[in-house]
Order: sequence, then C-alpha cells, then structure tokens
Amino acid sequence: MSNYLVTGGAGFIGSHLSEALVKRGHQVRVADNFVTGYRHNLRDGVELMEADLADPEAARRAVEGIDYVLHQAAIPSVPRSVAHPVESHRANVDGTLNMLVASKDAKVKRLVFAGSSSVYGDTPTLPKREDMPHNPLSPYALHKQMGEQYAQMFTRLYGLETVTTRYFNVFGPRQDPTSPYSGVISLFIKALLEGTQPVIYGDGGQTRDFTYVGNVVDGVLRAAETPGVAGEVFNVATNGRVSLNELLEVLKKIIGSDAQPIYQPARTGDVRHSQADITKAQQMLGYQPTVGLEEGLRETVAWYKRSAV
Ligand code: UD1
Repeated sequence: MSNYLVTGGAGFIGSHLSEALVKRGHQVRVADNFVTGYRHNLRDGVELMEADLADPEAARRAVEGIDYVLHQAAIPSVPRSVAHPVESHRANVDGTLNMLVASKDAKVKRLVFAGSSSVYGDTPTLPKREDMPHNPLSPYALHKQMGEQYAQMFTRLYGLETVTTRYFNVFGPRQDPTSPYSGVISLFIKALLEGTQPVIYGDGGQTRDFTYVGNVVDGVLRAAETPGVAGEVFNVATNGRVSLNELLEVLKKIIGSDAQPIYQPARTGDVRHSQADITKAQQMLGYQPTVGLEEGLRETVAWYKRSAV
C-alpha cells in the first residue's frame, strides 16, 4: 500500500486513475481546483484537497506524506490554449514546475507526468515514435513539451524519478461533453443522443489514435510502478488510426442514428494525422491496450445514456 497524489483527480482521466488506485488498496489524495474538474467525478475513498497548483505553497502541501505523484492537472485543450494562452500556461507549465519542485523537496519516489501526442505536431512520419523531433503547433502542445522536458531535467539534475506518458485522444465515461473545448468523441455522442447535428471541423479526413481510458489507466500505473524507467517518455495509445468521418459512422451505428454532420472550417493549431508507435511501452512497461475502439465506444455510449447528458 502506497500514498498516491492524483493532481486533477476530479477530472476525466484523473478520476479513473484514483478509482483504480483505491480499488488496489492504495491511499489516494486528489488535488484539484475544479476549473475543468467536477465534484461528482470524485471517487469514494479519496481525500480531497482543493488547491490551485500554480501556487507553490499549495503544491508543497499537496505532496506532504506522498510516495507517488500522478500529475494529471491541466487545462487540456488545444483551441482553449489558442484562445487563452496565459491561462493555459499558468495551469499547464507553472503548475507542473511547482509539482516538480515540491516532489523533489518532499523526496517522492516518482512523479508521472501526463504528456500529450500534440508535441509531435505535423511531422510527416507515422506512427509517431518517442524519439522523433517535436513540432508543437499550439500553446497547449508547447506547454506539454515544456512539462516533459522539465520532468526529464529534474531527473537529471536532482535525481527525482519522473516518467512521461504521452496520451493520444483519450475517451471514455466521465469525459465532459459540455464545453466547446471538449474532446470530439464526447461531443459527437452528445449530439447523436440529443438528435442534433455533430460538427466536423475540416473535411473529416484527419485521423487520430483514439484511446479508451481504461488502457490509459493501465499504462500510467505501469509507468508509476515499473522499476528502472526514470527519465523515460512513453506513448500510451493503441497504434490505431481512424478518421473523424469513420468515427462518426461507427458512433451512428452504435447509437442507431442517421444524423448528418455539419462541416465547418478546420481549427487553427489542429494536427492532420496522429498515430502512436507503442513498441516502447510494450517492451519496457509490459503495456498492452486491451479495450479496442468499438468496444470502448460502446462502453462510453452506454455511460452517457445512463447519465443522460
Ligand atoms: C489534442 C491532442 C491530445 C490532447 C488533446 C487535449 C493531438 C493529435 N492530440 O487533441 O493529445 O490530449 O488535444 O484536448 O494533438 N473536432 C471536430 N468536431 C468537434 C470537436 C473536434 O471535428 O466538435 C475535431 C478537431 O478539429 C480535431 C479532432 O476532432 O481535428 C480531435 O479534436 P479534439 O478531440 O479536441 O482533440 P485534439 O485536438 O486532436
């Protein structure tokens, strides 16, 4: 049994991580400022600390007595970072630097940083391997690049064990569909269930490696627990690639809808194609995605139906 801190634990991915940790018998503290998280996402058995981690003192208090930090807190949206770069930078970069400093000072055993596939940008080669050059196209991508480079630097300079897990378009139950900045799968499902027309930005030919949240939980917990991987970066995804047009067809079939999308101009800062090479996580962490796209979509649709979005 260990003491875990999940920052952003009232958010989508953070709430799934804290739930899995509680189930495994760990003590879990959640730090969240409820900017993008919700109280109803908090899982039974977690200790809540309402805190803005861009405040160094709050970060220091959050890590007291903690063995492992899963740093998930962020403002996770490409377009929101384009519209509000300072607000996003404060949450994504200042918050991360404060967590690294506080974790180093408190001698935590390891910090796992929630990285992002957006750091690859529009580099031509697919699938993306961890050692490929970065090309951030948005403030959000740049923030995530800085976060993982800071994490690696803290490993080199101070011996703080850090691992970065790069997420690729995660989806699943509890993803918030109510903001214009929400993930596309949550927005598509909401539109189809409500009988409105989903919006596709661009021609719908852009592709993503959509990853069910249960696979991500497995990858992150392995990144926290596997010995000898400090300073490493891992893609945590599926190695699949689906266009938005194809995704919508699958969702229409699952939901039984014949809604036609509305096409609008592509978003600035948008990446055309994204797909992960997951060989490194498979070899070094023993990670294997077990929930495929269609199965994950069915689970997710069932959850949205139950919670009547
Ligand atoms: C990006 C990152 C991802 C990160 C996420 C955080 C990439 C490849 N991925 O996701 O790692 O975790 O930001 O938010 O950079 N779209 C529509 N209709 C909608 C909403 C979105 O067509 O109603 C389109 C977008 O223009 C985009 C795609 O769907 O082409 C996916 O968008 P979104 O779900 O917001 O995620 P990304 O920006 O790809």
